Amino acid sequence: MTTTSEHYQLAQQYLPGGVSATARANRAIGHPLYVSRGDGPFVYDLEGREYVDMCLSHGASLLGHNHPAVVAGVQKALEMGVICSYETVYHTQLAQRVTELIPCAEMVRYAGSGTETVMHGLRLTRAATGREKIIKFEGHFHGYADALNLSVSPPLDAAGPERAPFPYPESAGIPFNVRENIVIVPFNDPMALEAAFAAHGDEAAVLLMEPINYDQGCILPKPGFVQLCRELCDQYGVILFFDEVLTAFRVAPGGAQEYLGITPDLCVLGKAFGGGTPISALTGRRWVMEHLRPLGDSEMSGTYLAHPTTVLGALGALGEYSKPGFYEKLDAVGEHFYSGFQSLIDQHSVPLRLQYAGPRFGMYFGVTEEVTNYRQAAAKRKDMEFAFIDGCYRRGVYFAVSPHHGFSAVHTEAEMDRVLGAIDGALGEVKGKFDD
Ligand SMILES: Cc1ncc(COP(=O)(O)O)c(C=O)c1O
Repeated sequence: MTTTSEHYQLAQQYLPGGVSATARANRAIGHPLYVSRGDGPFVYDLEGREYVDMCLSHGASLLGHNHPAVVAGVQKALEMGVICSYETVYHTQLAQRVTELIPCAEMVRYAGSGTETVMHGLRLTRAATGREKIIKFEGHFHGYADALNLSVSPPLDAAGPERAPFPYPESAGIPFNVRENIVIVPFNDPMALEAAFAAHGDEAAVLLMEPINYDQGCILPKPGFVQLCRELCDQYGVILFFDEVLTAFRVAPGGAQEYLGITPDLCVLGKAFGGGTPISALTGRRWVMEHLRPLGDSEMSGTYLAHPTTVLGALGALGEYSKPGFYEKLDAVGEHFYSGFQSLIDQHSVPLRLQYAGPRFGMYFGVTEEVTNYRQAAAKRKDMEFAFIDGCYRRGVYFAVSPHHGFSAVHTEAEMDRVLGAIDGALGEVKGKFDD
């Protein structure tokens, strides 16, 4: 049997950093988690050790791993002959189901990753409005496209003034000139948003946002803030575009737009949409979607868009999300877990702010006040967080190094009690190590 550390040595020779995606490196535990298999709420490493999974494919596996409804969908697709790049009746069936569930959805175009879909959505908003500028919130993440991978987690000394941040490129290699087209606004700051619209609203194609900012842990919009986004977009003729890659099907069957009661013009569904298979969807109002070719003249195509394995995987997943009691069960498990977690924080008196919405949550070590924007989230203590993640890992609970973590629909109270046991031990260690 190859051990994890032996495999890490080998993998680093062929894969930069020993991983196939940067987010799979785990600096807290000192190596990536190499998985031999996943089942339900668990993943197993190369040595066969079982971990309760609190990463869940960075949010894609809302049904846990190996869910029978998703497996059956993929099998049905394989029985069609491993076809690729053709339309089937299932593509239409899935689109119809999306329009029934998602408030803004009238037409649908699929792609693979969230990155790809948001990128195409951005182009579509420009085609539909004839304008080029993007208004985006500091700390919100929309994938890795050059035009959008800006000001997600900028170092505070390079982030610019709090109320009018500079566009900060999140990667080397992003061309300088993409910054000309983007306006960065602090989240949850109505005055700054109004000022940005007054200055740029007439030339903006889109206001792009995470309706719940899970990519900074879990930051909910303040009451009335998303309503203001809607009103300003209407006033200035700007498309309101929700990036629901993380929120879709997680907080409600209709995503954050149902949960918050505000309907955007356009949105992207991702992650949980495919139940662990790689599919994402761009969907929204007919007047926007009709700009896509072959109806309109905004291009969005590709050989692998909507592979049948993923379409049928998504249909299987949506069937589960639509079952009576699905969200009530998530809420009940959440209540048990979050109240237990908060009690442990109080018991150990570790400075740690826990924020959550539905089955996903953020942890801000070293912070005790409510976190409402990126600058507050950036104050969190990474050294404490890493020690915590490592402590949980040694106790059989896997957390990625990520702003957000979560549980799935197949995590029961029994699994969450195992997680709480590990958290108890890990918080004790953190307290011992960092108490000063
Ligand atoms: C809100 C949001 N948008 C876009 C993306 C990019 O999606 P993907 O990783 O599927 O490319 C992510 C991924 O974490 C995300 O959280």
